Amino acid sequence: MLRRLYHDQPASFAFTPANLAWAEGQITKYPEGRQASAVIPLLWRAQEQEGWLTRPAIEYVADMLGMAHIRALEVATFYFMFQLSPVGRIAHVQICGTTSCMICGAEELIALCKELISPYPHTPSADGRFSWEEVECMGACANAPMAQIGKDYYEDLTPEKLRALIARFAEGEVPVPGPQNGRYASEPITGLTALKEFESGRRQYNASAERAVEIGETVKRIDGTEVALRTPWVEARSRAAAPAAAKGTVPEPAAAAASPAAVAPAPPAAAPAAAAAAAVPAEGRQPEGLAGPRGGQADNLKEIEGIGPVLEKLCHELGFFHFDQIANWSDAEVAWVDQNLKGFKGRVTRDRWVAQARIIVAEGLEAFRIRAKTNDY
Ligand code: FES
Repeated sequence: MLRRLYHDQPASFAFTPANLAWAEGQITKYPEGRQASAVIPLLWRAQEQEGWLTRPAIEYVADMLGMAHIRALEVATFYFMFQLSPVGRIAHVQICGTTSCMICGAEELIALCKELISPYPHTPSADGRFSWEEVECMGACANAPMAQIGKDYYEDLTPEKLRALIARFAEGEVPVPGPQNGRYASEPITGLTALKEFESGRRQYNASAERAVEIGETVKRIDGTEVALRTPWVEARSRAAAPAAAKGTVPEPAAAAASPAAVAPAPPAAAPAAAAAAAVPAEGRQPEGLAGPRGGQADNLKEIEGIGPVLEKLCHELGFFHFDQIANWSDAEVAWVDQNLKGFKGRVTRDRWVAQARIIVAEGLEAFRIRAKTNDY
């Protein structure tokens, strides 16, 4: 199936303050230079915020992580859990159409979705409340046919049962997920044949359904306010770093990186000289920086693959505004810059900034862009 970006895209995207704080916390899970590992949770959070994954959202996440846009686009278009077009306001219904479900009646469920929601998948209903799609096996084959609605599974479905479920969702209810034919879990419909001694003491619903009932938010989108989804390790690392700071010692780099501010997309501006003097490493040699761009006009450093708005701003803080500055860095200078890119250490070497800048300086931007399409640098 072709997965393309939707034709009608919004102009921009930004995380809400709560989601931004959460995203910055997620990034601290990963070691220096490996922030790109946070791409899936951040894309997922962006989708939760908007309902679907827009191109500006994908590029925003890529910029936060210092990734080339194409790398984040590859992830977003590969995984089917990412919705690349608008979905229903209340719920997106995913009908399993694989073998067990197909044999047990998935086609009738799909026909019902066409009747109730839209003749076409990935197309919201006329009132914008629901959308649907057919998906591959979701691992609940013993309870076929089934559908995922919001975040929960509704199993042992018939067209009548699915019709009733959609009507209840439309009324704002959250029907109990799990088997819809009276089964507790995936035991035979005629009852348990083994482990019968546990039958009398069991809870009202199986563990998955019980948790869903407890939360009561099958179709609610995560919005950053969920206490259980915060990032306790950030606070724990800050607490661990506090005594050292109180004694006047310098916190370990890992503890320093644990602060959301350390990976925030907009670090506070500082004079180049002051920023450089604050963190001169033992390794490498600091390249000569400028107090400001020549002629008041900086080059667009984001032309270099791997530099997004965050890294560009960091470069400016360190006094680097022009391609020719980067093109002239020696190995020792590359080592210094690699060490001083805060949450993005090692990016100069990893993404070959100097090689890219030298092509831009020698051959011009147009020629570079053509070469960059095939990573020819
Ligand atoms: S075939 Fe439908 S869940 Fe596996």
